[in-house]
Amino acid sequence: MCGIIGIVGKDDVAERLLDGLRRLEYRGYDSAGVASVHDGVIERRRAEGKLNNLARELMAHPLPGSTGIAHTRWATHGAPTTSNAHPHATEEVALVHNGIIENFKPLRQELMARGRRFDSETDTEVVAHLVSELVEQGASPEDAVKQVLPRLHGAFALAILFRSRPDILIGARLGSPLVVGYGDGETYLGSDALALAPLTQRIAYLEEGDWVVITRDGAKIFDRDNRPVERPVTISGVSGAMIDKGNHRHFMQKEIYEQPVVVAQTLRSYLRRMENQVSLPDMDFDLGSVKRVTIVACGTSYYAGLVAKYWFEKFARIPVDIDVASEFRYRDPVLEDGGLALFISQSGETADTLAALRHAKAHGQIIAVVVNVPTSSMAREADLLLPTHAGPEIGVASTKAFTCQLAVLAALAANLARSNGKLTAEEEAEIVWHLSEAPAAMNEALSHDAAIEAIAPLIVPARDVLYLGRGPDYPMALEGALKLKEISYIHAEGYAAGEMKHGPIALIDEAVPVIVIAPSGPLFEKTVSNMQEVQARGGKVVLISDAEGIAQAGEGCMATIEMPKVHPLIAPLVYAVPVQLLAYHVAVAKGTDVDQPRNLAKSVTVE
Ligand code: F6R
Repeated sequence: MCGIIGIVGKDDVAERLLDGLRRLEYRGYDSAGVASVHDGVIERRRAEGKLNNLARELMAHPLPGSTGIAHTRWATHGAPTTSNAHPHATEEVALVHNGIIENFKPLRQELMARGRRFDSETDTEVVAHLVSELVEQGASPEDAVKQVLPRLHGAFALAILFRSRPDILIGARLGSPLVVGYGDGETYLGSDALALAPLTQRIAYLEEGDWVVITRDGAKIFDRDNRPVERPVTISGVSGAMIDKGNHRHFMQKEIYEQPVVVAQTLRSYLRRMENQVSLPDMDFDLGSVKRVTIVACGTSYYAGLVAKYWFEKFARIPVDIDVASEFRYRDPVLEDGGLALFISQSGETADTLAALRHAKAHGQIIAVVVNVPTSSMAREADLLLPTHAGPEIGVASTKAFTCQLAVLAALAANLARSNGKLTAEEEAEIVWHLSEAPAAMNEALSHDAAIEAIAPLIVPARDVLYLGRGPDYPMALEGALKLKEISYIHAEGYAAGEMKHGPIALIDEAVPVIVIAPSGPLFEKTVSNMQEVQARGGKVVLISDAEGIAQAGEGCMATIEMPKVHPLIAPLVYAVPVQLLAYHVAVAKGTDVDQPRNLAKSVTVE
């Protein structure tokens, strides 16, 4: 979503604001802007498109001032034009916003009826006018914000700059994250700790409904009832180096390559290798009492949940419901008291998933979350927090967060099974053993990168691509298709291999490559039969399997991608690598923007 940064600094801030935006660009990149106050005047620089356009604008027209705000946008209301770019401003105030002001239409009408003129189509501009109107009438910035916040419906984070008070910025949080950073004689606002990484590690996370006044000396935080509150200052642990591409061409490539290390890192906190046991953080409920699990997530995280459904049912024999978050809440799901609701999210801020979490909580569910950002809203609202240790994921297409989610979910499956009396000590030891092998197998999968790159040109000309898999490899087909479409813009669909003959097989012809994910194992023969049905109709197949599978079924395929032979439990972790790499190389060959694909943004904080 949109990225926000604000600085009350010692000297000119425009350069550093721009630098902060570079770190936030993954959150949205269709336009950007900066505003500062200097000599009693607010000035803005804004530009459509990528951040470089704003950088050029700032070079041509530098912006002085030691207090400023900046924004990188993912459009919700209004096209990505310069006039819709943030900051939105009047003479008195300028502000940047992440989220949606749901009641902006009536507010806009009300303001227009009072003669206020609007320059943009955004929902945000009403907030600038509401605050400005009160300031113009003599209210202090604090009083103006205090009066305006209760009038806004929706989810938002705001940073507001005032002409008359160059010594402060005001921030507010409802639904979208906002952090305060404490520097040396400077104070910052940011939509996440990443934006502030080079400026400070000392971070306070605002709670829902909080608003804050920052000065060079620090911050005064108030809760939604305007009572002064303290929010703990923590050390973020995010360094500038962690958000660097290193020797890689793209963040996505770097993050694909990091997987063996971060999966090992994640497994370390869930496996007790010496005892041959799987362990979870302490919890104040009995996992053994869980008789039903409801899994909710979006996108790639949802596909991790689909894999987990197979594992939970197979190992723990517990029925599992699973839904995408945007559907879950509105279908009025049946949630029996004491059920476990499991939410999976890289960011921990995805608005649909967070809303679903709150719905489940209100309906008596125990809330477990698998998240990559341990300070996120979901993490803070969970009864059981199961962190992934993937480190910051900057590429918009999720890769390492996904495989780390799978690692945690496998450990949770084993724990659920043990607590429900469905797992012997020997079976648990075997699971520990297989999971421990995953990082090395993923490393081996990465060693086939060059071969995968060589196959990419076969996919580049395609308009449509199909992915097939069975069992836990079916979600991998869905994930492969999602990765390909989001970064290469080739239309791709994943199907359960056995479902082909019920309709999708009509799509098969020579121009539609079919990627078949089929590790040798119990489901191999069946998947291969479906693959042969495709080949019989002239379909061009790329088979991803191990040496044994390729020896059995590789003949007649357009190409094969060899994976190490692995236990079915860890196959999804290992087979994630070739589907990610294939999408990556196709996108690179097509020349698309791999890390910032069109229309997308990381961490979707609007419903
Ligand atoms: C796809 C992708 C998205 C996210 C989805 C959920 O590559 O990144 O589909 O998986 O937006 O995001 P989180 O996991 O942050 O809730």
